[in-house]
Amino acid sequence: MELLEILKDVEHPAKGDRNIVDLGMVQKAELKDGKAVIVLAFPKHRDPLAEYLASACKAAVVRHLGKEVETIVETVVKDEPKPRKAGLDLGVEELAQVKHIIGVASGKGGVGKSTVAVNLAVALAGLGYKVGLADADVYGPSVPKMTGTENLAPNAFQEGDKEIILPLEKYGVKWMSIGYFAAPEQALIWRGPMACNALKQMILQVRWGELDFLLIDMPPGTGDIHISLVNDIPMEGAIIVSTPQDVALADVEKGINLFRNDGVKKPVFGLVENMAWFTPAELPDHKYYIFGKDGGKKMAEKYKIPLLGQIPLIQGIREGADDGRPAALREEGEGLYYLQLAQNLAARTK
Ligand SMILES: Nc1ncnc2c1ncn2[C@@H]1O[C@H](COP(=O)(O)OP(=O)(O)OP(=O)(O)O)[C@@H](O)[C@H]1O
Ligand SMILES: [Mg+2]
Repeated sequence: MELLEILKDVEHPAKGDRNIVDLGMVQKAELKDGKAVIVLAFPKHRDPLAEYLASACKAAVVRHLGKEVETIVETVVKDEPKPRKAGLDLGVEELAQVKHIIGVASGKGGVGKSTVAVNLAVALAGLGYKVGLADADVYGPSVPKMTGTENLAPNAFQEGDKEIILPLEKYGVKWMSIGYFAAPEQALIWRGPMACNALKQMILQVRWGELDFLLIDMPPGTGDIHISLVNDIPMEGAIIVSTPQDVALADVEKGINLFRNDGVKKPVFGLVENMAWFTPAELPDHKYYIFGKDGGKKMAEKYKIPLLGQIPLIQGIREGADDGRPAALREEGEGLYYLQLAQNLAARTK
């Protein structure tokens, strides 16, 4: 009887009792000079059943060929080809040394997400944290302009079969944006899946290195791009930005649900109320509640999320964004609001 036939007697107890030959575990079965040499392949090191199956092989040989035959069983680890994911085959290796990946989202557009994200990144860096920011707004990237990096281009190099992109560094923060690669009008014609892939590449192919925080400035809305981002980027949670108006409320709920829904279940670390009041430069002690008072605070209570900060509408913040010098660089005045925000976020993500 052939040795391979004999080994069909050996059933794998964890595989519905299918035999090890049919399971493709027998890499070698050789009978020569009264010696049986068997090599069994296991999917992982130290398989708990390796020893059991080796003795079962020996027993089967004795049963069929008698005690005189010496049986040597070797075990090896079989390298199974990893199943390829459909679409882009990008891993999350470049994010391995990032402690906190946090999405900055809002349901509604134009509430100041990017301004908050950029200033928060600068403020966190000012506190001594290692920080990166990925501008995930494919259709309207604003990070290059807000940081004065719009004329720069990130370096890239080939490593094995992978292209690695180096982030730009300015103000102590590592920045990455699709805006460094594509002219805005070009991005506009991208269809959904193309935009999603470009986005993922821009986050997953970047050599972020060691970071305490990687902020993801999410595009406005809660569509396919958002769902794909939340699913493919291992975000720890999110912060939500909103203005205090009632009309923003329904959108905030959508933004929160993007992370809190059953399929995702990620924490929302807090809400940032942007444009909470207006203070004119010449009347620094006055507060005008243009969009209503404490709307964000009430939203935070309603959805049971901490209010991380209230940022007023200040001309200096808008100017800083337009000039590429974020207001958070200032260690006084409006800079203090972002400093406070950064401290609150750091305290919540320990
Ligand atoms: N606290 C603030 N004080 C003054 N201006 C602000 C403030 N926050 C944001 N802005 C200004 O409001 C405008 C919109 O802000 P921003 O681009 O950050 O919004 P967004 O939510 O990212 O928009 P989008 O939905 O298009 O991505 C910008 O011109 C910005 O400078
Ligand atoms: Mg934006």
